[in-house]
Amino acid sequence: MDTRILITGGLGQLGSELSEELQRRYGDSNVMVTDIRQPAESVPDRFQILDARDGERLLEIVQAERITRIYHLAALLSAVAEDRPQDAWSINMGGLFNVLEIARSNGCSVFTPSSIGAFGPQTPKDFTPQDTLQRPTSMYGVTKVAGELLCDYYHHRYGVDTRGVRFPGIVSNATPPGGGTTDYAVDIYYAAVTDHHYTCFLQGNTYLDMIYMPDAIKAAIDVMEADAERLRHRNAFNVTAMSFSPEDQAAYIRRYIPDFEIDYDVDPVRQALANSWPNTLEDYAARVEWDWSPDYDLDLMTADMLRTLSERQGRG
Ligand code: SER
Repeated sequence: MDTRILITGGLGQLGSELSEELQRRYGDSNVMVTDIRQPAESVPDRFQILDARDGERLLEIVQAERITRIYHLAALLSAVAEDRPQDAWSINMGGLFNVLEIARSNGCSVFTPSSIGAFGPQTPKDFTPQDTLQRPTSMYGVTKVAGELLCDYYHHRYGVDTRGVRFPGIVSNATPPGGGTTDYAVDIYYAAVTDHHYTCFLQGNTYLDMIYMPDAIKAAIDVMEADAERLRHRNAFNVTAMSFSPEDQAAYIRRYIPDFEIDYDVDPVRQALANSWPNTLEDYAARVEWDWSPDYDLDLMTADMLRTLSERQGRG
């Protein structure tokens, strides 16, 4: 039987690139992209408007398209969620609940991204283990932990094949992230290429985990393709590729743009979020259970981001 995939939040930072790779792997006709908003310019081949809170519409699409796997990416990120906590609960939890219920009654597997935001100030900060104290203090984190638990519940109670990873900040150059705490690590490359200068909203010595988009896509696909027999965990696998601070990132950018300058205008909301998250994750479970291994470190990612953005700027 063909794997027939539905993506929610398919026009977002991760969805826009993951959907292209899924189409390459599983065939264009087997990937249905959905999002709450209309695409600005190029409409993906198979696209439908969907608010994941609308369970009836979601069910219609799943049945009409004979969907077997759902990548549920629709969610508010951490800074927006702090600004609009009631919306964050409704979107992040309401959407996930609909997806899990429909997966249960239609035999779909489900990928759900969790996040470093699922950890909190009492979590061990360095080499944060897979299974540890979480207790996040942000609404984003509350929805992420609740989502991890709900996905586990649907697996052990109903046998739904739920899987997922805890993503660190994702760095990419196709679609910008919107309203996250780790957005600075993306913005800095755009600013480096255009202005040779960036004003960062986090303090220079704030360490957070990051991953480059090709590795994030690999993680999202590989965990769903992994042999179920090997999985001791199912949801919320820690994955990481690198940990760095804005100062470190600026130093690597200077290898390619020597006059690059960074200064700081700290946003207290996002700084508080970052301070409550780990400095570095330990991703041993993902490595052992489904052979997770990232390809990009900070140097390779910096080289690739700057080359890609400079070429794009050159083409005007
Ligand atoms: N990148 C996310 C954010 O900053 C964390 O998962 O909100």
